[in-house]
Amino acid sequence: MIDLPDHKDFHQAFKRIEKSVKPLIQDTYKMECGDSATHYLWDEDGMVLVMRMGRGIKRQEFEVCDFDVRQSDKYSGYKSRHIRNPIFFDNSRINAEAGLGLNDFFTGRALFNIDLLIDRILMEPGHLREPLMLTLTAAVGQMSKMVFAISERGKNGGRGANVGVQVGSWAIGFWRPELHFEISVWNCFFNKGSALLRALEREDNQKTFPLCNDYKSLAQNEEPSALLVQGCAVDFIESLADSSIKLLITDPPHSDRMPYLELSELWNSILGVIPDFDKEIVVSNARQRGKGQISYGDNLNRFFTKIGPKLKDDGFVAVMFNARRNVCWEGLHPSHGSGDSGLRYIGRFPMVYSAGSLVQDNRKGSLKHDFVLIYVKTENTTIPKVFEEIPGWSTEFPV
Ligand SMILES: C[S@@+](CC[C@H](N)C(=O)[O-])C[C@H]1O[C@@H](n2cnc3c(N)ncnc32)[C@H](O)[C@@H]1O
Repeated sequence: MIDLPDHKDFHQAFKRIEKSVKPLIQDTYKMECGDSATHYLWDEDGMVLVMRMGRGIKRQEFEVCDFDVRQSDKYSGYKSRHIRNPIFFDNSRINAEAGLGLNDFFTGRALFNIDLLIDRILMEPGHLREPLMLTLTAAVGQMSKMVFAISERGKNGGRGANVGVQVGSWAIGFWRPELHFEISVWNCFFNKGSALLRALEREDNQKTFPLCNDYKSLAQNEEPSALLVQGCAVDFIESLADSSIKLLITDPPHSDRMPYLELSELWNSILGVIPDFDKEIVVSNARQRGKGQISYGDNLNRFFTKIGPKLKDDGFVAVMFNARRNVCWEGLHPSHGSGDSGLRYIGRFPMVYSAGSLVQDNRKGSLKHDFVLIYVKTENTTIPKVFEEIPGWSTEFPV
């Protein structure tokens, strides 16, 4: 882990935010009885149930009354003061459409409350803003209209419209179910912040590495340290000195498995980051992006041709990869892409990583594991025997 906040510092910041912002947020969820609701069930644009539940609160359900509707209406159409307009492309695979805006994903009240949180986070010292924004962005899926309801409707002989409805959770993509929950923004933020606090308390967090500000200090630092660079990896590689890299590990998008920047757009808009969609090496169903299989292969190949000169003569490149269709391997094949780059493929081993993940392709014929493909710079590189000891090591190309 890198540069984690101190547990005590984070805890105090979290408490400060709780003291100042929680009452304001809870006020926006006030019910006629004076208590604050925690969950609302919506059917399209109509509120159908008001609920209170959570730690220490036994689930209570209330019929929707005019007061609840007026409370919500106060914020209808609210425009965020902090969050930029997200950029979406037509991509049915992730249920995105060009022209979608923040108000399609959040109620006005949720956006109002997210702004209150951001106002307060920005008042915290610089080193705490990042973990607090991480807490916020980790929670926004659950703050959105993408939280589906697990409904018993139609079961139990029609015992009542929403009897036993359970709160689902946002998982991935931009599906906005008709029957969905609006959850208290404070509860979502509090749950993620508490999880981060618990993680910060654990002893295994003691091993941290310093973060350098630029590549020069990283290269000169004798202690293990890290540099985080936001931007295009190809541009970054080009900026490095020739023959300076001993090991390059890369995990590029695996062909059409996921349109990463498109999926991250809502979160990038909250963080105020403007990604370079053009430079992303990916296959996307969004036609406007022009990111088909051919451009993907060409760009991956271009990346590889940039690596060769930067490697030391005894350097290695490790590429995490897998794809279902042979054509997706073009840019990596020893006799095609990597051949142009001057790199020599020496073998691969299996890795347990994303193939089993919920968010990966789980259609028939999908992948059971990924590979780490190993390349060297020159014919003369001595291949360490240690590769042969890795379970599943093979010198064959996977396809
Ligand atoms: C397979 S994911 C990496 C996942 C990462 N290893 C992890 O565990 O979170 C591939 C990532 O490469 C990024 N990417 C694509 N083109 C890039 C480029 N030109 N420069 C830098 N990153 C790029 C994608 O946006 C995506 O975030």
